Amino acid sequence: MTDSQTTTPFALVTGTTGFIAARLVPALIDDGWRVRATGRRPRPDDLADAAEYQPADLVSDDLGGLCAGITHVFHLAGASSSKSTQEEMDRNNVDATARLLDAAGRGPLERFLHMSSTSIYGEEKQLPIPVREDVEPNASRGYGKAKWGAEQEVWARSRRGMPAVVLRPVTVYGPGATKLLASAILDTAIERAAGLPRLAVAAEPMEQRLLHVDDLIAACLHLARSPEAVGRAFNVVDGIYPSSHDVAEVLADCFGMDVEVGGEGLDEDRRRTVHQHLVDQGMEPAILFTPDRLRLMTKTNRNNRLSTEALESTGFRFTRTDFAAAVADNVDWYRAKKWLPADF
Ligand SMILES: NC(=O)c1ccc[n+]([C@@H]2O[C@H](COP(=O)([O-])OP(=O)(O)OC[C@H]3O[C@@H](n4cnc5c(N)ncnc54)[C@H](OP(=O)(O)O)[C@@H]3O)[C@@H](O)[C@H]2O)c1
Repeated sequence: MTDSQTTTPFALVTGTTGFIAARLVPALIDDGWRVRATGRRPRPDDLADAAEYQPADLVSDDLGGLCAGITHVFHLAGASSSKSTQEEMDRNNVDATARLLDAAGRGPLERFLHMSSTSIYGEEKQLPIPVREDVEPNASRGYGKAKWGAEQEVWARSRRGMPAVVLRPVTVYGPGATKLLASAILDTAIERAAGLPRLAVAAEPMEQRLLHVDDLIAACLHLARSPEAVGRAFNVVDGIYPSSHDVAEVLADCFGMDVEVGGEGLDEDRRRTVHQHLVDQGMEPAILFTPDRLRLMTKTNRNNRLSTEALESTGFRFTRTDFAAAVADNVDWYRAKKWLPADF
């Protein structure tokens, strides 16, 4: 064993004021890791006491102190299109990743685990299906391009010997999520609050792909230790692929509604009015309200199906594959947090 392998693993987790990293920190602590968390904002109130916290902007601050003594980096900080311009996405994905890699590489680093995204594959050019990790990516939107730019920084250091691992998850949902499926859940609650008995969904079914945050966290812990993971990328998707009609059934069921295939639902103005009413009644406006209703279910992707052979060949198994039960738990979590009204 080398000296570095005998030290206690010391994890730096970036992006801990965000959704996924906030769930990763307690999982690492429960698994016996020493953790230093970071984000741009002050220490989150609900961050585990056992975690150190150092605020830093990865683009502009000196990262030497942040990376001091770190053996494992879990790099989850990044910017997505829901809240950022293209310039912000490039800066906070590509530049931030390059600076962090260089700072971490100066210490006793044993593994750099980078959170990328399947958006790097793009939606326009048909790739061989199921999409494998060794295909040439073809990002078609700004977010995917920024995530691919960040990956390039990782692979450049990996070629020079840095022990890097890349995860490429699809849309992630679960407790703490504020976008994507969360917004569709909010849309359903809004129409239920408006008294609609049915949740309308577009007639043409669209295949979805989703991943519960618990499975992504489990994959992070697994790949941080798996000896064969170094130098490789891994798609992370639960392999279920419900249609938009299936998703609508599950959402409607959580709110005691039926599904209406081919209907339109409320217009944006009415949805905004009901949303504001719910906030005035005490609902926390934590979940992102999107002008487009059920926006998640309107996107088509010719490269929807992904291979998970690489991840499963390392011994990893997905556990949150009962989609209806997982969404029902998620809705209960939102109700308990008052991110959704509690009374229906
Ligand atoms: N959520 C998904 O469905 C999904 C799917 C595929 C891949 N991913 C990837 O997974 C990662 C985590 O996603 P998430 O949904 O948890 O994101 P999130 O909730 O938007 O959180 C992003 C985090 O990154 C931090 N950040 C951004 N720019 C930074 C900078 N310059 N310096 C320091 N911190 C910075 C943010 O800090 P502030 O709080 O200060 O803004 C926040 O803590 C991202 O890399 C994302 O691309 C997410």
